[in-house]
Parts: sequence; C-alpha cells; structure tokens
Amino acid sequence: MSIALRTDGLVKQFGGLRAVNSVSLSLPQGQRHAVIGPNGAGKTSLINLLTGVLRPSAGEVYLGEERVTRLSVHQRVKRGLTRTYQINNLFPELTVLQSVLLAVCEQHGVATQLWRPLAACAAEIAAAREILRTLNLHHIEGEAVKELAYGQQRLVEIALALACKPRILLLDEPAAGVPKGESAALFAAIARLPGEVTVLLIEHDMDIVFRFAERITVLVAGAILTEGTPQEIARDAQVKQVYLGNAA
Ligand SMILES: Nc1ncnc2c1ncn2[C@@H]1O[C@H](COP(=O)(O)OP(=O)(O)O)[C@@H](O)[C@H]1O
Ligand SMILES: [Mg+2]
Repeated sequence: MSIALRTDGLVKQFGGLRAVNSVSLSLPQGQRHAVIGPNGAGKTSLINLLTGVLRPSAGEVYLGEERVTRLSVHQRVKRGLTRTYQINNLFPELTVLQSVLLAVCEQHGVATQLWRPLAACAAEIAAAREILRTLNLHHIEGEAVKELAYGQQRLVEIALALACKPRILLLDEPAAGVPKGESAALFAAIARLPGEVTVLLIEHDMDIVFRFAERITVLVAGAILTEGTPQEIARDAQVKQVYLGNAA
C-alpha cells in the first residue's frame, strides 16, 4: 500500500515550548487515522505543520514520495492535501448547491465563467450534486447556507473540501460546537467519504474515534505516546492513565 502522508521527526518550537516533539507518522492511502490527546498536546499545531500554515523547526513532511516541507499551503492543496474550511468561509446567502458549485468550478478552472448560462455548467453541477449525495446533503441543496443547522454547515465545509478533490483530508475537531444530536449525522457522512481518500481526524469524543479510526496515534505533550489499532489503544495501560484518566 502506498504511503499518502508521512512526517519524519517533525518539531515545532514556540519559544521555550516544544509544541510538537519529533513526530513521525505514516498514513497509507485510504487509511482512516485519528490523533487523540489532551488539550495542549499539539494536535492542532501538527495539523498546521502538515498543511503548511506553520513551518517546522525541524523535520520533514512528505505527500507520497514528494517532500513538501517548504511548500506553501496552496501548493500542498494542489497536491491533494486539504483541510476543512473554517465556518466563516461559507457565503451565508448562497444555497448549498451554489456553494459547492462555486468550489467545483474553481477546481475545474472555470470560476471566472460562473455567470455563463447554467446549461453550460452541466458537468460541474453533476459533480457538485455527487458530492452532496456523498454527504447526504442533496435533499437540502436549494436551502441557503445561513438557514442550515450548525452541523449541516460543517458538512457543507466538508463538501467544499471534497470539491478540491483531496487525496488527503485533515479534519480538526469537525464536530466542535455541533450539538450532540447533529454530530452523529456528521460522522456518518465522514465515514462514507470515498475509500481512496486518506483521512486524518482529530476528535475528542472517544466513541467516535474508536468507531471511525483504523489506527490511532496518541499525542501527549507534543510527542507520540503510542500508536495502534483502536483495540490496542483501548487496552493500553499508559493511555488509560495519561489520557482516559477519569474514564479508566
Ligand atoms: N502560535 C503559538 N504560539 C505559541 N504557543 C502556541 C501557539 N500555538 C499553540 N501553542 C501552544 O502549543 C501547545 C499545543 O497547542 P495545540 O497544538 O493547539 O494543542 P491541541 O490542539 O492538542 O489542544 C499549547 O501549549 C499551546 O498553548
Ligand atoms: Mg486543537
């Protein structure tokens, strides 16, 4: 199985604080991988190093065979590494279909021609609807984004990310702020993502992590404590002690 995403000895130093400490990860293509760890463990910093938002103090990031450590965020997106957009990147007045259509047209390089007759966008509309079906949003394609429940807005963000045709999708707490009742639908949609897409998920809810992930990396104080299958992580005494603490 080819490796989609790999890091080698990644370090991020913020002054005296080593937020990410020598992290080496390897995700085969199509793997559903979760990174867990207490608050402040360095999970978001790690994602920022992967996307190129942050430059590492040491270490390397590879997409497939290619070293991308010094590439910009945009250059990495072009190579298939995408993270979910922030909520305020959504245009509230647009409908769900229009939002995704805009992103698909941009990906197809036809964004500047968006106002041509709709019939000329048939391929893009079909692609947008396909993404909406994957995420179970097709039945609300005509609704304005601002009218949606928060969990559905997060799904629209994932739809926009999918429009970039990612090979690797990074999800940093996608259910943050989503009411409990809506998060099940969100994770059901994430679980239905195309099998060839490699997914790296950061998530607090252990039930969700253990159901979703094929492999789990436990990060503590910037460093990898252990990595394994959900079964291995669930039995790991060290993990219980430092992370699951009260639950154990
Ligand atoms: N830009 C920054 N400057 C200084 N310290 C930071 C910065 N970003 C994060 N940190 C610190 O790095 C540590 C890891 O943070 P973070 O990656 O957000 O952890 P997590 O996502 O696991 O909660 C924390 O102690 C945090 O305060
Ligand atoms: Mg975080």
